[in-house]
Amino acid sequence: MAHLRTEGICKNFGGVRALHNVDFSCARGEIHALLGANGSGKSTLSKIITGVVAADRGTVYINNRAAAIHGPNDMFAQGISAVYQELSLIPQLTVAENILLGQEPTRLGGINSKAAWKRAAEVLQTIAAKLDSEIPLHVPVRSLSSAEQQLVEIAKALAREPEILILDEATASLREKEVQVVFEEVRRLREQGCTVIFISHRLEEVFDLCERATVLRNGEVVATVNLAETTEQDLLRHMLGEVASVDSLSVPAPQDRVVLEVKELSSASSFQRINFQLRAGEILGLGGLQGQGQSEVIQAIYGARPYTGRILFEGQEVQIHKPAAAINSGIVLVPGDRHVEGLALQRSVLENVTLPSVAHRSRFGLLKMGREEEVTAGVVERLQVKVADVHLPVNTLSGGNQQKAVIGKWLLTQSKVMLLDDPTKGVDVQARLEIYRSVEELCSQGVSFLLSSSDNKELIALCHRVLVMYEGQIVAELAGEELTEENLVAASMRITPGVKGVS
Ligand SMILES: Nc1ncnc2c1ncn2[C@@H]1O[C@H](COP(=O)(O)OP(=O)(O)OP(=O)(O)O)[C@@H](O)[C@H]1O
Ligand SMILES: [Mg+2]
Repeated sequence: MAHLRTEGICKNFGGVRALHNVDFSCARGEIHALLGANGSGKSTLSKIITGVVAADRGTVYINNRAAAIHGPNDMFAQGISAVYQELSLIPQLTVAENILLGQEPTRLGGINSKAAWKRAAEVLQTIAAKLDSEIPLHVPVRSLSSAEQQLVEIAKALAREPEILILDEATASLREKEVQVVFEEVRRLREQGCTVIFISHRLEEVFDLCERATVLRNGEVVATVNLAETTEQDLLRHMLGEVASVDSLSVPAPQDRVVLEVKELSSASSFQRINFQLRAGEILGLGGLQGQGQSEVIQAIYGARPYTGRILFEGQEVQIHKPAAAINSGIVLVPGDRHVEGLALQRSVLENVTLPSVAHRSRFGLLKMGREEEVTAGVVERLQVKVADVHLPVNTLSGGNQQKAVIGKWLLTQSKVMLLDDPTKGVDVQARLEIYRSVEELCSQGVSFLLSSSDNKELIALCHRVLVMYEGQIVAELAGEELTEENLVAASMRITPGVKGVS
């Protein structure tokens, strides 16, 4: 008997068909993957199961009984717990306060809330300890890295010991070690009979954790498969209709001209004495375990974080103490957290995509609307952004499609250095390739990139060189034949056989 089952679920948003006649079923104690390209309906189905979104038609059954889930109370009562793709933590509140917020409302104030709180704090500390790190409970959430925030969300969800757990791209900002620790906890819950729905664009994770997978395409179920009998190519074919061409990239060699140089760059406790040169047309990676200062280095160069030391741009020392100064020099940032820095969520897709580059196209301050639509249509087509109408607010796009919009807007600017901070987080395979191709093309036009990524494969596919960071310092540089996944992992953990160290 199915533990969780949906029958004939339909959902439209205005004219957009998000789900159509979705029949989906999980056995008790099963870890079931929900797969599909960006905008295929995964998050919408998750939210219908948790009662955040109401279906137009269809029924959710739990233990064969129609479940009426209309909000958080019903969801808790059914033993469902979820980690959504968008973080739901409140940045100004402390970790402890955020954990409390997530507790079952009916128990709040009672003796049970204390126990529940304690359990969540314990789960969080267990996860942190396995990672040899600490996540302090009494600091504001905004002072944590995005991966740490994600771990807080996960700990909150796991601590409820749910009967049904939904993880919607909960691992997207985590690196391999963290993912493994989270998987251990998920498997432990499964042993206790918990049913898990797992959503991820990283197929390796899916094969590692899940037994079966259901694939959505344009809001319809196209296949349900046993993963043991399925290849990655099969899954891609189900997701995309046809297999994406994965012909390898050929990133041209960089020029000799140095565009950006940092000398003895330090920032309080975040990173120390960083030195590197970035040449025209070069893609330089920042690797290492999560939270070793990579994002902070990028933020400093973007003028969003105080630093000491020197930054030279095209041979001249520059003072970059606010983002406007960076953008003026032609340095732009594609952030990992699109909701904080990347997008004006209430504004339309067209406005978001065209605004930063508007100056290049306006004459005497005048803009032709038709031209702006054309430009936006170009980006939408190139990155295959799934959007019904470019005049809709950008927050109506699926998570991955929002990220494509962030990247699209910077592709249009004529920037010299692009700082990419985990740019393909939550982006599907096909779009990821499109983004890589765009990077390759810009690179051949002489644009330089500094790329931090939680995905080692991405660093290897794109970068000419990778600087590995550990506790705020550069501990190794990998290039050419040495740039392998094995060496990257080893250098990240400071196990260094065969790797040339830099000190
Ligand atoms: N609130 C909304 N208003 C309008 N359209 C929406 C809304 N929420 C979702 N959609 C649309 O529904 C479709 C499915 O979106 P959904 O977020 O479920 O996709 P997804 O499979 O989770 O994608 P991703 O991998 O990018 O997260 C998309 O076309 C999206 O634009
Ligand atoms: Mg989604």
